[in-house]
Amino acid sequence: MFRLSGILIVFVTNHLLRIFLVTQLEIAGRTDIPVAEGSHVTITKGTKLRIADFVHGTDGLGNQNFPPPKGKPIEQSAAEFLIEQASLYPGKVTVVALGPLTNIALAIQSDSSFVKNVGQIVLLGGAFSVNGNVNPAAEANIFGDPDAADLVFTSGADVLAIGLNVTHQVVLTDADRDKLAESSGKFAQYLCKILDVYFSYHHDAYSTKGVYLHDPTTLLAAVDSSLITYVEGVVRVQTVGITRGLTLFYNKQKR
Ligand SMILES: *[C@@H]1O[C@H](CO)[C@@H](O)[C@H](O)[C@H]1NC(C)=O
Repeated sequence: MFRLSGILIVFVTNHLLRIFLVTQLEIAGRTDIPVAEGSHVTITKGTKLRIADFVHGTDGLGNQNFPPPKGKPIEQSAAEFLIEQASLYPGKVTVVALGPLTNIALAIQSDSSFVKNVGQIVLLGGAFSVNGNVNPAAEANIFGDPDAADLVFTSGADVLAIGLNVTHQVVLTDADRDKLAESSGKFAQYLCKILDVYFSYHHDAYSTKGVYLHDPTTLLAAVDSSLITYVEGVVRVQTVGITRGLTLFYNKQKR
């Protein structure tokens, strides 16, 4: 079994997410993993208005009211931390981006060697050849900061994007959840608590009997890329108008 030798990078963009991530690490017993706080505004200094509490619960953890975390974020900002780690371990840092791309874009903007130093950027984002999940054009993470996303896609960095057309095929079904509920394992129990909110949201919004595993699929791609097939090409992101956040993919040329 593949084991990640060190995952260091966790980004958060608001208070809610900070609690969410620190709590997760404490439950997993991995308080050795640092948490760096991300930007509270988009790359164009816009307000990050959209918090998907209707998907994740008002506490970001399926409304389970877990005790508040003890841990605190490190002093460095997410972008500073990224820049530092990439220059300490050139070519060895894989960034798994599970939210809007503001912090990565900030790292690219503030350090001209970041693109060269960073390894692969594996990101959850985009709706390629399918409708988005925020509106027909846009997927949620790209929609969160389209200007940052366009900057990342055009930076020349090695980017692996896992879009909705992939993650919608990876479903944790009601039957899977029942199996999980039978387990007495600590993590299984924890997951089952959180999953209620996700299951009811998915039943209502998509009429699916299960939940899409967007973030886990992206992590899986980072850990073992042979599980998924890929096509190579260029991506641009629409930054204005009613199709703001649309990802446009073209695979006829490499640059
Ligand atoms: C997802 O979209 C990309 C880009 O259009 C395409 O190459 C790929 O085959 C699609 N994958 C699936 C599973 O539909």
